[in-house]
Amino acid sequence: MLKKIAISAVAALALSGSGALAAEGESHVHDVDFSFEGPFGSFDQNQLQRGLKVYTEVCSSCHGMQYVPFRTLSDEGGPHLPEDQMRAYTANFEVFDPELDDFRTAKPTDHFPQSNLENAPDLSLMAKARAGFHGPYGTGMNQLFKGMGGPEYIVSILTGYTGETKEEAGTTLYENTAFPGGWIAMAPPLYGEDVEFDDDHSNELHHEAEDVAAFLTWAAEPKMMARKQAGLAGVIFLTVLSVLLYLTNKRLWAPIKGKKTA
Ligand code: HEC
Repeated sequence: MLKKIAISAVAALALSGSGALAAEGESHVHDVDFSFEGPFGSFDQNQLQRGLKVYTEVCSSCHGMQYVPFRTLSDEGGPHLPEDQMRAYTANFEVFDPELDDFRTAKPTDHFPQSNLENAPDLSLMAKARAGFHGPYGTGMNQLFKGMGGPEYIVSILTGYTGETKEEAGTTLYENTAFPGGWIAMAPPLYGEDVEFDDDHSNELHHEAEDVAAFLTWAAEPKMMARKQAGLAGVIFLTVLSVLLYLTNKRLWAPIKGKKTA
């Protein structure tokens, strides 16, 4: 009986495995080295500022970021915009104020607007939402072993257009090597040279894609640096504690153990 169950379980696993592989299609995500990867990685402030620019000038015409407050653009460890720049940026937006029952200029405590386009998902948490599930059978192994996750997926989507299009039920779909299923409803948003950076930084397609992906990673996980620091402090603390406990243990048992050998 047990044997039968085991065999059918293995068979079911094998079947679902191949199903997942087939459903995954040709979805291809490539690895990118980001500054914030690894236990000591941190966000590159200039990259986040460039990413903000790409988001503002290109993506925000369709996508919102309703969970991100404007004031966090000044946060240390994030884009770290000077206070006056953050306020000037914020003043470009209008938000609906239920108390006034009207639109008013946004304040730093307000959030980015919601998506303009109904079928464009909100990007606040996209980098986290698409973080796992890559690698063999969607197990997330690639994230664990190669540090590949949400930002790599976003870069791969933005650079994965083949140029092929097709019409389906009245919408145009664009072939994309990273999008599961292979056809995405988002027209290629970036071609390269879509924005001008102040510091003459390269605005080639893959640089713009990496910058905006880094920015969206910060948006989804603004406290990543604090989390890593707390983790490091925890590891150091536990190491010291282990050494102390080991020495205490030795000391406590010394009289007894000492007797035996004597
Ligand atoms: C013209 C409108 C438009 C613009 C501009 C645009 N997008 Fe999109 N985006 C969409 C739509 C529509 C979808 C939903 C596609 C789908 O589900 O097939 C989408 C989906 C996405 C997704 C989710 C893919 C997934 O796994 O579900 C990401 C990530 C994304 N866009 C990032 C961006 C970034 C970054 C930019 C700016 C560089 C951008 N988009 C600019 C319309 C747009």
